[in-house]
Amino acid sequence: MSKRWQTWAVAGAAVGMAGAILWQRRQQQATHQDTTPFSTKYGPWAIVTGAARAEGIGYGFARHLAGRQINLVLVDILADELEARAAELRRNYLVKVRPVALDLGQPDFINRLLAETDGLDIGLLICNHMYTPSDTPPILDMPLEMHHRMLDINARAYTTLAHTYGRQMVNKGRGGIILVSSGAGMRGTAYTGAYSANKAYQFMFGEALWYELLGSGVDVLVLAPGLTRTQGDALDNYPAFMMMDVEPVVTETLAGLGQKHLVIPGPVNKLLEVLSARFMSRRQAVMTTGKLMAQGLQKE
Ligand SMILES: NC(=O)c1ccc[n+]([C@@H]2O[C@H](COP(=O)([O-])OP(=O)(O)OC[C@H]3O[C@@H](n4cnc5c(N)ncnc54)[C@H](OP(=O)(O)O)[C@@H]3O)[C@@H](O)[C@H]2O)c1
Repeated sequence: MSKRWQTWAVAGAAVGMAGAILWQRRQQQATHQDTTPFSTKYGPWAIVTGAARAEGIGYGFARHLAGRQINLVLVDILADELEARAAELRRNYLVKVRPVALDLGQPDFINRLLAETDGLDIGLLICNHMYTPSDTPPILDMPLEMHHRMLDINARAYTTLAHTYGRQMVNKGRGGIILVSSGAGMRGTAYTGAYSANKAYQFMFGEALWYELLGSGVDVLVLAPGLTRTQGDALDNYPAFMMMDVEPVVTETLAGLGQKHLVIPGPVNKLLEVLSARFMSRRQAVMTTGKLMAQGLQKE
């Protein structure tokens, strides 16, 4: 056999072997797939924060969970809207719903929430709430007190919730935690810099927690949505092809729980992430994102 043919034969054998190993791995994963029903694993109660707005992602999660007959503790700062959402869910899905109106930026909020959830078997925690000022000032133009309040709501509260209910779940040996971060948490995002930094905190916290809880029976997942239609006309200046509806974001995330550690929903967001991470330097990606934000928020 010529040298050329020998090289082809070795390369072919290597590819064949790699294929066989991958196939065997897939088969092993398939046989180890957890067949426990969703509501048994992540029920009978779930907490969803930031669930008051009818068009929001939090309420999207609440609807899907109610559809799977999981009872809900809904937390938000908007008391009246929360009561309205709770009534809708009870009426449409015949589940139990406890609306808890809370400012998650208050240092002692967890005592109130623990009292409200006392005796409930919480199988799923979805940290979804967020606060960012609607005029999205540049970092140094935003008052320092506002930076601190955002850290309390978006970083401190996420930590407190995941720590408190995560420990309960680990003790039971089952459960799930979804941390709703953002594509803005993957790189510095100008004109919403504080939000971007808060989202990066949630992202790293969630990924690390996912690894640390492997084998504990508690599944952790970070959700990093791109632009999602939840804010009325506030996002109208961004390119339309980048926008997603709430439904597919929620469906893909719940399908990924227990399977994946990260969901970047939708093909466009996935493609944009590959382009930014693999085909641009980090500096180029920050520049491109900054220009997009300047256009979307009409800043420059
Ligand atoms: N929509 C998007 O394009 C997009 C993109 C990427 C990531 N995300 C993330 O997805 C999640 C849901 O976003 P969404 O667009 O669906 O927003 P949303 O409907 O506005 O949900 C956030 C909820 O959290 C509430 N909240 C604010 N401060 C609070 C506090 N101190 N205590 C308790 N609740 C408080 C908000 O009330 P107020 O309205 O009164 O502030 C609001 O009801 C967020 O974590 C967001 O960062 C959204």
